Amino acid sequence: MTSVLLKGVTKTFGKTIAVNNIDLEIPDKQFVVLVGPSGCGKTTTLRMVAGLEELSGGEVYIGERLVNDVPPKDRNIAMVFQNYALYPHMNVYKNMAMGLQLRKFSRDEIDRRVRDAAKMLRIGDLLDRKPAQLSGGERQRVAMGRAIVRKPEVFLFDEPLSNLDAKLRIRMRAEIKQLHARIETTVIYVTHDQVEAMTLADEIVVMNNGVIMQRGAPLDVYRNPKNLFVAGFIGAPSMNFLNVRLVSVDGDSRLKADGMDLGLPEGKFRSSGEWIGRELILGVRPEQIHPATTEQPQQDHEWIEGMVEVLEPLGSETLVHLRAGNQEIVAMCDPDRTPTMNSKMRFWIDMNKIQLFDPASESSIA
Ligand SMILES: Nc1ncnc2c1ncn2[C@@H]1O[C@H](COP(=O)(O)OP(=O)(O)OP(=O)(O)O)[C@@H](O)[C@H]1O
Ligand SMILES: [Mg+2]
Repeated sequence: MTSVLLKGVTKTFGKTIAVNNIDLEIPDKQFVVLVGPSGCGKTTTLRMVAGLEELSGGEVYIGERLVNDVPPKDRNIAMVFQNYALYPHMNVYKNMAMGLQLRKFSRDEIDRRVRDAAKMLRIGDLLDRKPAQLSGGERQRVAMGRAIVRKPEVFLFDEPLSNLDAKLRIRMRAEIKQLHARIETTVIYVTHDQVEAMTLADEIVVMNNGVIMQRGAPLDVYRNPKNLFVAGFIGAPSMNFLNVRLVSVDGDSRLKADGMDLGLPEGKFRSSGEWIGRELILGVRPEQIHPATTEQPQQDHEWIEGMVEVLEPLGSETLVHLRAGNQEIVAMCDPDRTPTMNSKMRFWIDMNKIQLFDPASESSIA
């Protein structure tokens, strides 16, 4: 059983608070992804778990053991970095064997582990090559192999795919997922790429400015972001944010803005009563807005009218930039039913999927 527990962990560099009093439990065998914009404290958090960075405050436990004062080599963790850090003068075999040699494993044991890992990572044919003779993806596999042979209790990955081209990144992403299913080890994985986070994680931890904004299963966070930051960060293209006012018309709650008048489904926002007459931010994802091909809406769909200003065909779908009143909205449309430029037309919004946020606290309203 190797869970990782962070209790009130803080790291300051001079006046910079890189990590600000975070509490985080990573259950045994889980694949947890720390995601957030550049500088939010992901690497620093990981380095504190690894023992490469001293804590300014708080406690780190690996399993049952408080490891604050345990040196990195005695923590039974393995870290895979963005730049792989392979030894250029050693061949693949040596690169993978090195850590075990330093730990005085027998030659037979080392050989068995290196060959097992190489087979799992499909680099068995490359053991005699030097890093310079490998592709980016192969180097990445060697770096993972070097971590795997140690059979660590916890794997730490810091943006391991960011040096690879887009296609290879997608393939390696799938391989890392398969690998985790096979080796069943606790993983903490850092990325600033929200797609990578969504696809890999059992649980994602969204960070900003050294604090945890939200954690949860990827789809749960996607569907129920707790605040504007998470809502805007998770999901591509980003959620639309529209300034609206909540009003009550004959007992029904409606969201109004210039050129917009949307009925709220009854009971969807239990506390909406308190917000009558006030400004709110309406969050709606591009895929929840559809061109209105019929006059009859589905249940709880409301329409907006917009001027089509920009079309971005992506192949599988087309992004349509609309202007509705004084606000800009992006909708994701079926390329076979894409509206024409500079036309004014109606779009349905699925009101059961929208989010509402308090502009002052930036928190979601339930
Ligand atoms: N050794 C250091 N000395 C001073 N400041 C540091 C040091 N390491 C990190 N920082 C600062 O701490 C903050 C968090 O940095 P960190 O590297 O953890 O961010 P990150 O989330 O990993 O970002 P990225 O996605 O760019 O890798 C940043 O403001 C950074 O400038
Ligand atoms: Mg980093």
